[in-house]
Amino acid sequence: MVLWGGRFINESHKLFKKFNTSLSFDYILVKEDIIASIAWSKALMKSNILTAEEQIKIESGLLSLLTEIKDNIKNILTSDCEDIHSWVELNLINKIGQLGKKLHTGRSRNDQITTDLRLWCRNEVHIILSNLVNLQKHFILIAEANYNVIIPGYTHLQRAQPITFSYWCLAYVEMLRRDESRLKDVLKRLNISPLGSGALSGAAWKIDREELAASMGFNSASNNALDSVSDRDYVIELLSCASICMMHLSRFSEDLIFFNSGEANFIELSDLVTSGSSLMPQKKNPDALELIRGKCGRVYGSLNSILVVLKALPLSYNKDMQEDKEGLFNSIKTWNDCLCIAVLILKNIKINTECCRQAAEESYSNATEIADYLVKKGLTFREAHNISGQLVLRAISEKKSLNNLQLSVFKIYSNLIEDDIYKNITLESCLEKRLSKGGVAPCQVHQEIIDAKKRLNIN
Ligand code: ARG
Repeated sequence: MVLWGGRFINESHKLFKKFNTSLSFDYILVKEDIIASIAWSKALMKSNILTAEEQIKIESGLLSLLTEIKDNIKNILTSDCEDIHSWVELNLINKIGQLGKKLHTGRSRNDQITTDLRLWCRNEVHIILSNLVNLQKHFILIAEANYNVIIPGYTHLQRAQPITFSYWCLAYVEMLRRDESRLKDVLKRLNISPLGSGALSGAAWKIDREELAASMGFNSASNNALDSVSDRDYVIELLSCASICMMHLSRFSEDLIFFNSGEANFIELSDLVTSGSSLMPQKKNPDALELIRGKCGRVYGSLNSILVVLKALPLSYNKDMQEDKEGLFNSIKTWNDCLCIAVLILKNIKINTECCRQAAEESYSNATEIADYLVKKGLTFREAHNISGQLVLRAISEKKSLNNLQLSVFKIYSNLIEDDIYKNITLESCLEKRLSKGGVAPCQVHQEIIDAKKRLNIN
């Protein structure tokens, strides 16, 4: 169905038709388009454009359309309608006749599309939020089960100070918690109804837009129609959230790819999320993690793309804005998929406790403890740091760990060092000292786990 035939003498070229259509991707908005259309029909009835009887006919026509396509929405794709709005309208008219032609009174596809898209985004935000919570829960379960597993913590990918596997998990819980809070914030600006904005200057009929907004579960109606039909900030915000969270997931992937490497051997990924090589029989590749890391690219791409599409775009609606959808749909799907796959990876992870501990022990990651020990004995931190550095050099040349240096050797570098040095530089002691808020001390980690479990309602 062509919605605008009257002013035209010729039909559009078939190449242009193909270029112009958005049905191939906006068909997924069919449910939202029908819900918004029903809400609109009620608003039209309240302003006496439709009788109560007409509204009921339109509503039941739309509802039966919804039931018909519910399980096979891909059937929509066989139509040659320009977009999902014309598809719904045409099918309504086919169903209930001429009356269907009244539905578009006072409405434009400009306010329709952004209403549909907001409804769709709102639904997706709730799905993402629950996936974000689920992933946090799994990090916490792993943290709880691996409370005593010591691993080296890294800076510059050099072993830096010992931490625990639990502590590493809790770092990701923090990131995901920020992602959750960012998304909830987006919801405030997303959940506003543009319906009734018309093409750009508002509807010329007496529509109670606040009531209309509330009927679709929106918090309020938008303020300025010119802005409402042009505004895609919510798409940008959502893709920003997606990009930040995908960045977190890519770092998680990178950490685990490294932990799983033959060089580190801290963990073993399950067969469920790895694949083999067609040539090298010994290989077990971390494909799931690599794909999460790689898929980050397309999400950043979509964010960049919508920013560029909207840059310097004059008010109000322009067809450029049709380009907002494919990247958004793809990115949200990708985001949800990655959150679910991350859970699957975590659930089936095997931790090689001994290798983790050994790596932490071999790494001079207790050198800071020697410096702190000397500070307690009265040296300034700079002096202490220097002595500890010299001891590391000595230990390297003796191919020993710091714990294995003789007391007489310690004393060459500082007379302040006594026998109690050894208990001060054990891995456990490194952890236990870091007691202040946010530190790696097991009692801190324990409390963090309790707090997180309470926040996420885990028993
Ligand atoms: N398919 C269009 C989009 O996605 C719907 C709005 C069309 N509006 C218009 N004035 N042609 O943006």
